[in-house]
Amino acid sequence: MMTAEEIREIEAELAHYPVRRAGAIEALKVVQRHRGWISDDSVKEIAAFLGMSADEVDAVATFYNLVFRRKVGRHVILVCDSVSCWVMGYDSLRDRLSASLGIGLGETTADGRFTFLPTACLGACDRAPAMMVDEDLHGPVNPGGIDAILGNYR
Ligand code: FES
Repeated sequence: MMTAEEIREIEAELAHYPVRRAGAIEALKVVQRHRGWISDDSVKEIAAFLGMSADEVDAVATFYNLVFRRKVGRHVILVCDSVSCWVMGYDSLRDRLSASLGIGLGETTADGRFTFLPTACLGACDRAPAMMVDEDLHGPVNPGGIDAILGNYR
């Protein structure tokens, strides 16, 4: 069940839209901020709240790559694999992250601290190779500096 805080935050976002369903992404972001990810039950709750079907909300959630439909770790690392980052050393960055974390792309560390995911362009091509940890953009990232970056989130 949605909390009063979630409802208050979603209603504040919906005030910016002409119809409730137009705020579906914002509602998903609010719920994800509180719960960490969007479960099937969360999809149903949001759908009921916005007057949409669960399938419609799920379609929005699936389209938007920063909405997580599976449980993620406390911190989500997104490493960009689009062309600028790929040219500027994505492979080395990915491999170093994988070695430091002890997991591959799409996985979560055993302690639940980090989830490691690929992403399309982060809009920071001038900072390639780039990655995000939660809301923080990092780039250009020298693979040798990965442990120091991760240390900020341990
Ligand atoms: S290609 Fe990586 S941020 Fe744009």
